[in-house]
Amino acid sequence: MSTPLVNKVTIVTGASRGIGQAIAELQAVNGASVVINYARNKGFAEDIVHCIQQNGGQALAVQADVSNIADLEVLFQATIDHFGHIDILVNSAGIMTTKPIEQVTEQDFDREFAINVKGTYFACQLAAKYLQAGGRIINFSTSVLGQMTPTYSLYAGTKGAVEQLTRQLAKEFAPKHMRPPHNILHVVGQ
Ligand SMILES: NC(=O)c1ccc[n+]([C@@H]2O[C@H](COP(=O)([O-])OP(=O)(O)OC[C@H]3O[C@@H](n4cnc5c(N)ncnc54)[C@H](OP(=O)(O)O)[C@@H]3O)[C@@H](O)[C@H]2O)c1
Repeated sequence: MSTPLVNKVTIVTGASRGIGQAIAELQAVNGASVVINYARNKGFAEDIVHCIQQNGGQALAVQADVSNIADLEVLFQATIDHFGHIDILVNSAGIMTTKPIEQVTEQDFDREFAINVKGTYFACQLAAKYLQAGGRIINFSTSVLGQMTPTYSLYAGTKGAVEQLTRQLAKEFAPKHMRPPHNILHVVGQ
């Protein structure tokens, strides 16, 4: 079986469930050593690590709230301590609030931007410090941006910000240690 990610180390934020879990498992199948980041669901993350290890792969679960920069530093340092280097960052951690604007609270706004935008941005900042040459960062947008569905304004606002910071950082990373802009930071989503 082809293992194109052998010797690669990946951090997947929000990997205890959903898309992050699927990406982490697929990367492990392809030979990567995978860090399963989670916020609250330690049991889910540990089950995924166990499953990957049972299948002959390498994985580590690390708790970190991506909206907290000190937590992000712990996540990156734990990865270096355990695996020695980092090649790929997948910023999958995210939340989605759907409410008419009249019902959105300041707390909703701050939390959504803290996890989806601040978390993605400062994880990219740490990637600039830690990722090896030829590294990859994958950020997440959403098809909601094109659909402009009512009640999704807060979520879409965060993902619009993620798309633009991704384009900006692609240019910024290009002359450094990573690949040309269009290959560095991918915006993905349904
Ligand atoms: N699902 C879709 O249809 C869809 C479409 C387009 C884009 N996306 C984007 O794809 C990404 C994943 O979505 P999903 O639907 O797979 O999400 P999900 O199933 O709701 O899972 C969210 C994941 O993020 C983690 N998380 C939440 N807050 C966190 C925080 N503060 N720090 C660290 N981790 C945190 C959760 O950890 P715990 O389990 O520990 O809480 C969980 O692992 C998101 O960025 C989302 O916006 C999703």
